[in-house]
Amino acid sequence: MSSLQIKELEKSFKIGRNEEKILKSIDFELEEGKITALVGTSGSGKSTLLTIAAGLQKSSGGKIKFNDKDLTDMSSSKVRDVRAKEFGFVFQHAHLVPFLSVKDQLNLMIDTAELKWRKKEKQQRIQDILETVDMWKHRDSDPDQLSGGEKQRVAIARAIIHEPKLLFADEPTASLDSKRSVEVMELIRSLSIERNITVLMVTHDEDMLVYADRTVEMKDGKIEK
Ligand SMILES: Nc1ncnc2c1ncn2[C@@H]1O[C@H](COP(=O)(O)OP(=O)(O)OP(=O)(O)O)[C@@H](O)[C@H]1O
Ligand SMILES: [Mg+2]
Repeated sequence: MSSLQIKELEKSFKIGRNEEKILKSIDFELEEGKITALVGTSGSGKSTLLTIAAGLQKSSGGKIKFNDKDLTDMSSSKVRDVRAKEFGFVFQHAHLVPFLSVKDQLNLMIDTAELKWRKKEKQQRIQDILETVDMWKHRDSDPDQLSGGEKQRVAIARAIIHEPKLLFADEPTASLDSKRSVEVMELIRSLSIERNITVLMVTHDEDMLVYADRTVEMKDGKIEK
């Protein structure tokens, strides 16, 4: 079953006086519960495609269907709502909030997504997710007391605490050494399987492709067939 459907997606940017087409009529589907890896040379449009699919920036044309609704037809506030409740994000750097403990990174996310969990349920879910990513023992640590891989595990916990249907990951292992990269990818894979999360992941690291169910290549703003 398809989780996200993209049809004839276009994106242009104004560069100087010229309008440059960065995404060129992209047709693309994400299969529910599967991990799709997006690869391609630098500048081919991977991050642009991921951020548009995730509702983080607007397209110049085309359709993005999620749950039978079209993100391109929705108001900005509705897109924000879908993004906060149904999508999770992981980037190259963990982007944790300085001076907030690991536990409070998650509390903040829960409050931002306006999840109406009671205090006890909230604490239980935070404990569950931190145990899953093996960070419960670091629950009271601040980001600057954590290694890169530990930070990224907290970022993944934060990305899925609200039980999103879709996880968007742009080079989630690019700032990690190979051992930590494998750990992070094994974590993403097991979470995707256990919680039926659909994943779109951009990567430059060929070693990470074994964790994907499907690899799609972008070239010059198009998907290679
Ligand atoms: N806001 C913007 N304004 C103008 N041009 C942009 C903007 N965002 C992206 N681009 C251009 O779009 C093209 C694709 O960028 P994108 O970031 O999607 O590439 P990428 O495939 O993710 O590359 P990398 O592997 O280096 O991260 C690049 O030529 C980039 O300069
Ligand atoms: Mg990129």
